[in-house]
Amino acid sequence: MTLPKTSAAVAAFTAIGTFAMAASAPNPEPFGKAADGTPVEVYTLSNSHGVKLRAMTYGAIVLSLEVPDKKGRLADVTLGYKTLAEYEKATPYFGAIVGRFGNRIAGGQFTLDGATYKLATNNTPSGKPCSLHGGNKGFDKVVWKAEGLQKDGAQGVRFRYLSKDGEEGYPGNLQVSVTYWLDENNEWRVDYEATTDKATPVNVTQHAYFNLKGDGSGDILGHSLRIAASKFTPVNEGMIPTGELRSVEGTALDFRKARVIGDRINAKEEQMTLGGGYDHNFVLDSQSGSLASAAFVHEPSSGRTMEVSTTEPGLQFYSGNFLDGTLTGKSGGKYAHRNGFCLETQHYPDSPNHPEFPSCILRPGKTLKSTTVFKFGVK
Ligand code: BGC
Repeated sequence: MTLPKTSAAVAAFTAIGTFAMAASAPNPEPFGKAADGTPVEVYTLSNSHGVKLRAMTYGAIVLSLEVPDKKGRLADVTLGYKTLAEYEKATPYFGAIVGRFGNRIAGGQFTLDGATYKLATNNTPSGKPCSLHGGNKGFDKVVWKAEGLQKDGAQGVRFRYLSKDGEEGYPGNLQVSVTYWLDENNEWRVDYEATTDKATPVNVTQHAYFNLKGDGSGDILGHSLRIAASKFTPVNEGMIPTGELRSVEGTALDFRKARVIGDRINAKEEQMTLGGGYDHNFVLDSQSGSLASAAFVHEPSSGRTMEVSTTEPGLQFYSGNFLDGTLTGKSGGKYAHRNGFCLETQHYPDSPNHPEFPSCILRPGKTLKSTTVFKFGVK
């Protein structure tokens, strides 16, 4: 958040003043029981600017994220439900951690070190089966272990899950942890770590749906968006990358300069028709593996901004095309077409079947480390 010089000093002072209070690790509170009887808990992270993030142990789902607008008014900028039962019933992955492999794997099948692995095909774009977001019971549908954390000027929660060898068809016992931090710079940081005892594909990401006007305030078409990507991975009718890295130049996917999402979302271009809008993996210009800015979003009426930085090579921009007015959200209204958008930092879709893409294979003895930061501000 950019503050005028005079109030910056005040903010710094306030931050130090409240730091002693905010520095404690958050305690869990009960959030009901999953259908199988497992108790679920919620952790609340907050900072001295009133920013508040609530996340539960089921799916490591972010239940709400309140951030100030240009007048200092707080609103929850994420979509989702009020109750655990609603998440268990049907969710398009609102706020969840998806994995073991987020995004699609063609035909629900891949070959690794000579062995072929079959996964559940839980998605069929244009009648073509694929595995989506980890299969029938991915990381978004399991109860994670959690602990509250605290460090200088930040509160956190670490979620841990052991995905057993063979779970959803994937090889190897995968020990995965996802840590959310909220700091005094209004940064929500997501740190991923994983180890395995057999080689396995891994692609874990955060699937929050955002609306910077606030949850329940209509579509996201007026948000302006910049994505630091000169190329994207075009898809076939099954929403699987063809393998080509195509220039965004001259297409509706050119977000190298900030542009309003609604501008070209209905463009009569093959890729836009296939996706029903934006539902594409952008090949980020920075392929360094270090934290780099990937996208910047600005919602003019509230003034809210969100910058996404990541160590990942790709970013799925999904404009909520499958929201169709059937789900009722936590604000009481229905989620209509394009009422939220996702920016999912990731390895490219179907990477296990594309040796030419950056490798998503984790091997025993190695530790996967990945970080994504969502930074909120006003403009
Ligand atoms: C995918 C969409 C999919 C959605 C499900 C997104 O990550 O890109 O194609 O429909 O998740 O909620």
